[in-house]
Amino acid sequence: MHLLVTGGAGFIGSVVADQLLQAGHRVTVFDSLIKGYRAAVPSGATFVRGEIHDRSALEALMTAGKFDGILHFAAFIEAGESMREPGRYFQNNVAGSLTLIETAVAHGISRFVFSSTAAVYASKDAPLTEADPIAPANAYGATKLMVEQILDWYARLKGLRYAALRYFNACGATPGRGEAHRPETHLIPLVLQVALGQRSHVEIFGADYPTPDGTCIRDYIHVADLAQAHLLALAALDQHPRLILNLGNGAGYSVRQVIEAARQVTGLRLPAVEKPRRPGDAAILVADAGAARRLLGWQPRITDLHEIIASAWEWHRTHPHGYVAAS
Ligand SMILES: NC(=O)c1ccc[n+]([C@@H]2O[C@H](COP(=O)([O-])OP(=O)(O)OC[C@H]3O[C@@H](n4cnc5c(N)ncnc54)[C@H](O)[C@@H]3O)[C@@H](O)[C@H]2O)c1
Repeated sequence: MHLLVTGGAGFIGSVVADQLLQAGHRVTVFDSLIKGYRAAVPSGATFVRGEIHDRSALEALMTAGKFDGILHFAAFIEAGESMREPGRYFQNNVAGSLTLIETAVAHGISRFVFSSTAAVYASKDAPLTEADPIAPANAYGATKLMVEQILDWYARLKGLRYAALRYFNACGATPGRGEAHRPETHLIPLVLQVALGQRSHVEIFGADYPTPDGTCIRDYIHVADLAQAHLLALAALDQHPRLILNLGNGAGYSVRQVIEAARQVTGLRLPAVEKPRRPGDAAILVADAGAARRLLGWQPRITDLHEIIASAWEWHRTHPHGYVAAS
């Protein structure tokens, strides 16, 4: 298939683009580079720099190349920032996705895989299934939910076949590709920046949550496993016109447990400082990904937290400045 990967210069999109190429697909990456890196785009992919808001750029792209499907990663991703600047998030994530979906449908592209998030759910102290109540705690989660709703209307009205994949916390690294968000707000890379001496300490936002050690609990899923689910979902769209699936490991780790695991992996002390809670953080988000396992035959391989952190540490150790030195 010829596949369009928006946001393919970012963390998850670049790993998916790489796996698609390895599986024999043709890949075009479309990314504005506002947050991503040209060096992250696999060499076998065609790269087009552009904005998902730019209807004429998308028209030109889809007229020039016939795409069999779109994997849509391009978005702003920081929950905390979305609570301070919601307009930027609704504009980029919702309006941008609508332009992309409209153009795709106009060009007869009928397969669409969308990066949704666990942030669409309300916090729960048990693994979340897709049937659990939807109640985003932050504007970022709301933007993803709105795009899911838009996709549902295009499925009903225009025959679009789509998969909304609700990722829990993507992490880890593959050889040559790792997490380098700008700015970095994710726990594992932040802890590893302390290990590299780039930060004096890691901050724990909230130590008074209703969890065993008072810190937030999340489900960490390795980016290679996450990427694999995209290839399976893309293929499954032939049998299933509409897939809404959680992607996680089903194991929850607290912020303190992640920091402790990173200390063990790196052998370093890694100071941590407690701070007040941040607006928009749910206490506990852990996946029940049974539906993805059943429907896709998906089987995450790198599920041990230490192994996940070790893969991230290998990338950060060997790329202390992320992609910057390489680009
Ligand atoms: N990282 C996670 O843990 C996580 C969890 C749940 C969902 N997601 C979703 O997965 C997707 C990828 O996340 P990531 O961690 O790889 O983020 P990322 O920031 O590394 O990648 C996003 C990419 O999209 C590009 N982009 C953003 N806005 C754009 C626009 N208007 N036009 C063109 N390109 C644009 C950026 O330049 C960047 O390369 C996002 O949609 C995110 O919401 C991520």
